Amino acid sequence: MTSELRDLAVTAAQAAGQLIRDGRHKSLEVAFTKSSEVDIVTEMDLAAESLLIERILEQRPDDGILGEEGGLRPGTSGLTWVLDPIDGTVNYLYGVGPYAVSVAVVEGEPHPQLWSALAGCVYQPGTGDGQDGVTYDACRGQGAQRNGRPVAGPTDVGLRHALVGTGFGYLEARRRRQAAVIAALLPELRDIRRLGSAALDLCLVADGRLDGYFERGLNPWDHAAGALIAQEAGARVSGPGEGAPTVEMTIAAGPRLHRELSLRLRELDAFAD
Ligand code: IPD
Repeated sequence: MTSELRDLAVTAAQAAGQLIRDGRHKSLEVAFTKSSEVDIVTEMDLAAESLLIERILEQRPDDGILGEEGGLRPGTSGLTWVLDPIDGTVNYLYGVGPYAVSVAVVEGEPHPQLWSALAGCVYQPGTGDGQDGVTYDACRGQGAQRNGRPVAGPTDVGLRHALVGTGFGYLEARRRRQAAVIAALLPELRDIRRLGSAALDLCLVADGRLDGYFERGLNPWDHAAGALIAQEAGARVSGPGEGAPTVEMTIAAGPRLHRELSLRLRELDAFAD
């Protein structure tokens, strides 16, 4: 059953990915802004989320939907699909950096602290100039794949040698605090990357291409699929404490770096705005 859910997550994410890639040159309108004037929603975010919902409900009419753009639409089956139609919307708008479609299906209450993720897919569309699309997927208890092959798994480095991904929220006050944390942390690491898609950051930890990742302020749809993929690859993914990611913090890395990074972020008071 979970592999059927995974297959649906993959086909829906790939279909939405093709839509946004092919439509980029035709429709690049900002539809509206959300939490601040730099937190944008494009027409394509809306179109891709509608396509995902249509594909999923066609096959699973009793399931719920929690979408970045449309919010919660409760179901009756106990399963909810958590959708980010374009994770990395700013990259998409500017045509710089990666973006992805993220689709997860979870069991239980539609809240990261209460749900258990069953399957997920993060699909990065190809760019059309030689770079092919990349599909990351996972089923609970069955490992994680990149383009159908097992991912490399997380690395085992300490903080000093770690290449760490992070991201910044859209609110001014939060960004000031995030900048202060980075200013303190940067000299202590190999380097920092701000790729612009939290879902892909998590997949890169799963595949050993980033040693770790942390970010304050993620929404459930940003991490639902990527966290499962990273966990299934053997990474630790948590919030500020032992539990699931929260809006305060998401930390993902191999066990050693996860421990060191969590400790350092706590010392730097990174869980506060
Ligand atoms: C954003 C991206 C970004 C992260 C932001 C997210 P969106 O998602 O994941 O990397 O830093 O916190 O909001 O808005 O492009 O779906």
